[in-house]
Amino acid sequence: MAAPVSAFKFWKPGAEGPGVHLSEERELPGETGGPPVIFNPNAALSIEKQRQKLPVFQHRNHILYMLEIYQTVVIVGETGCGKSTQIPQYLLEAGWAAEGKVVGITQPRRVAAISVAGRVAEERGAMLGHEVGYTIRFDDCSDPQTTRIKFLTDGMLVREMMSDPLLKKYSVLMLDEAHERTLYTDISIGLLKKIQKKRGDLRLIVASATLDAEKFKEFYNQNESGDPSKDTCGILTVEGRTHPVDIFYSMSPFPDYVKASVDTVMKIHESDERGDILVFLTGQEEVEGVATMLREQARALSRTGMKTHLRVLPMYAGLPYSEQMKVFERVPPTVRKVIVATNIAETSITVNGIVFVVDCGFVKLRAYNPKTAIESLVVVPISQASANQRAGRAGRNRSGKCFRLYTEESFEKLPLSTVPEMQRANLAPVILQLKALGIDNVLRFSFLSPPPAQSMVQALELLYALGGLDEQGQLTEPLGFRMAEFPLSPMFAKMLLESGNFGCSEEMLSIAAMMQIQNILLIPPNQKKAAAIEHRKFSVKEGDHLTMLNIYEAFIKNNKSSQWCKERFLNYKGLQRAVTVREQLQRMLAKFKVPKTSSEGDPDVILRCIVSGFFANAARLHYTGTYRTLRDDHELHIHPTSVLYVERPPKWVVFNEIIQTSQYFMRDVTVVESSWLVELAPHYYQEGTHLSFANKKAKVT
Ligand code: CDP
Ligand code: MG
Repeated sequence: MAAPVSAFKFWKPGAEGPGVHLSEERELPGETGGPPVIFNPNAALSIEKQRQKLPVFQHRNHILYMLEIYQTVVIVGETGCGKSTQIPQYLLEAGWAAEGKVVGITQPRRVAAISVAGRVAEERGAMLGHEVGYTIRFDDCSDPQTTRIKFLTDGMLVREMMSDPLLKKYSVLMLDEAHERTLYTDISIGLLKKIQKKRGDLRLIVASATLDAEKFKEFYNQNESGDPSKDTCGILTVEGRTHPVDIFYSMSPFPDYVKASVDTVMKIHESDERGDILVFLTGQEEVEGVATMLREQARALSRTGMKTHLRVLPMYAGLPYSEQMKVFERVPPTVRKVIVATNIAETSITVNGIVFVVDCGFVKLRAYNPKTAIESLVVVPISQASANQRAGRAGRNRSGKCFRLYTEESFEKLPLSTVPEMQRANLAPVILQLKALGIDNVLRFSFLSPPPAQSMVQALELLYALGGLDEQGQLTEPLGFRMAEFPLSPMFAKMLLESGNFGCSEEMLSIAAMMQIQNILLIPPNQKKAAAIEHRKFSVKEGDHLTMLNIYEAFIKNNKSSQWCKERFLNYKGLQRAVTVREQLQRMLAKFKVPKTSSEGDPDVILRCIVSGFFANAARLHYTGTYRTLRDDHELHIHPTSVLYVERPPKWVVFNEIIQTSQYFMRDVTVVESSWLVELAPHYYQEGTHLSFANKKAKVT
């Protein structure tokens, strides 16, 4: 069972002094022996006792008191101290949800909304969807009559403001995980400040895991007298009760953090020390890759007689919910859980029993370049705040250990905190929504951290080109208003809203629904070839959109059979979800009276309709063999997962998104004709008379 130790050189700063090789001088995790540790000592207690043991419980009355005297209360407390699950219940118990009122709690991530709602319902002995519910895009598990505690994504809250501008049904809104500073949390922060001016009775709680409370307080405090007794916003800090976490840095940089993370997990596993492991990686592909490698190694190890089994559980946003929920399941003492996760596990979800954290030091973030108007997902080093959050996940039930797959020197060089998403995102979707909420001058909107002016201008240009805004920057009637109401990005919304006119709304619904699901095509590592052969049967030279349409239609034709999916290496659950999403989109189209039409097999109609929404994401083949964006000549490549990757490269394409690794890759790519671009987006590519891009006339030939 002796394992190679060469790949495992960490040192712990502090007491032992630098340069201590964990593999040599220091004990390996687990070599300490000692009595076995029982995890989650609270698990055996009654729910009531468990609740009382949480640090936030000490502050219950104080929180309620502060909410009486302040309009806004900022609550800072470490992840896991009980903010998300307990505070809503205190509010309910104190009567804040009486007379039909609702306590709303926003979450930046869908999975957090579901899992926290599930936990609160469980604590209250209630069925999810009644007293306690959640609402996320395409999935409403709440009841307008009976739900008193409602979890919702921050994006959904902004949507709710469109039908209920003053959010009248809510007595208290808690903006949870505010430290994450997602686009929609920031927008909600600004909008709620406006609402509060009109609704003095609306209480706001801003919950954060980091100490940025002063910034929030400054923003919300309406007291201009200088007399602190007249403050309208107060801060409350919940002291954590977390255990110490030993931090270990790698002695030298790892050339390959993916491999290093596998080695590190196996090293921990081979030690005797008990406790579950949480690994942080950047994206789904890495997570699945590492999970597979770990499973293989664990299998080999169990053949050598290793008594503790490794249960490897991936965790990322695109994973089906039922799979995601597996990370919360309890396991017998002979099993060690390894959760291989993206940043989703940093603060959004808390899994009990984690003793070891392995941190790769990177995160995949959205980035926007206002110069080129390119939005992409890019892997960047994490911030120090993130690194510390990640480490903290190890100290929830007892003292833990965090292995950082980078040197202490690199840690010192990391930025202190992550740039708010507002400052690195394409703003078109939020500007559209702000306009729909009656905020005409978006440049003057009260942003907690204002976005770059150029991002604003780019967004306005795009919305104008899509026909959502008129020359005065007002929402157009009906297109602009409908686009704002649509639960998809403006480009998708435009594509669907126009699909009736193109004569292909049936097909566009299927395509749009499929595009919302990640990983329709499954590629098991040991059956790559077989999967490729099956998948090729669906692929068409027109590109990914029509390929996905083929798959969807074949799935329906084959009675949505799971066996059929299995044989073709297709994601059955994903396809089922596409069916549900499609139904909801169809309802939206019916509401807007978009006629039901089908192209009856004519691909061009569909492709043209895609162009009507995605013309801004157009690229042409460059003589070097790469692609260039039409507007800015920015170099792009076709993503290896695209069906066009293996085809003879088409001359003109449009795409849905860009992933940035060593290069910029287009994902979800479709072949188009250049004449369509001029025809369907003349003001964008030819006229060039509006706004500032007269001189940027792209050379469409
Ligand atoms: O929001 P905050 O990070 O402060 O903590 P929380 O999410 O309210 O979690 C409080 C406690 O409930 C933690 O000990 C979690 O482990 C537990 N919890 C759980 O068992 N299952 C969940 N789905 C969520 C939380
Ligand atoms: Mg929380």
